[in-house]
Amino acid sequence: MAIVAPSILSADYMNMERDLTMTKEMGVKWLHVDIMDGIFVPNITFGYGFVKAMRKVTDLTLDVHLMIDRPIRYVQQFCDAGADYLTIHVESDTPENTLAALQKIRSLGVKPGIVVKPNTPAEAIESYLPLVDLVLVMTVEPGFGGQKFMAHMMPKLSQLRQMLDKFNPSCHLEVDGGVDLVTAKTCKENGADVLVAGSAFFGSADKAAFTRSLEA
Ligand code: DX5
Ligand code: ZN
Repeated sequence: MAIVAPSILSADYMNMERDLTMTKEMGVKWLHVDIMDGIFVPNITFGYGFVKAMRKVTDLTLDVHLMIDRPIRYVQQFCDAGADYLTIHVESDTPENTLAALQKIRSLGVKPGIVVKPNTPAEAIESYLPLVDLVLVMTVEPGFGGQKFMAHMMPKLSQLRQMLDKFNPSCHLEVDGGVDLVTAKTCKENGADVLVAGSAFFGSADKAAFTRSLEA
């Protein structure tokens, strides 16, 4: 069974507590939190204080996706804030700092994740695969919700599934961007077991049915 992680980027910011409570009532187990700094991506969202505030009102798994330049500077703060999974981009720092950041996240009792942008090949994260609990394949350019799903990411997704089967079979494989009822099926067929959905989840009339359908 797949895990559905609604991206709160598409929630109602003035009614966030209501929306977090609602997602749980819809049967959701994970929440995806997009952190953007206006430098690594051309958009700005939430800081670690916001994650801390979320942690106070929800016991759902917080899957925090850092889209920030040199994330090693802030992993401590996001771990302390209550992230369950903390995922960093391989493109956002040097290999040395990426390795150090993943190790630091683990040492703080949080599950580390690594993410690749659409133009980054699977091989770029090969050396990190044994060290992480989550691998995220972007199926849009990171920065904004509501973009079109990139179906040509599917060979990379299945390549990473095969690599994980070999090096780290219990690691989650997640997709993010343009996931809806139709594209979710393609992602699952290609090995994804965690599906981020922002606009499709929050725009859905029956969110419980949407969640069940993606899980199946
Ligand atoms: C984009 C973010 C996504 C975004 C997905 O940079 O990482 O998590 O919220 O939104 P949808 O599902 O609308 O493509
Ligand atoms: Zn995301």
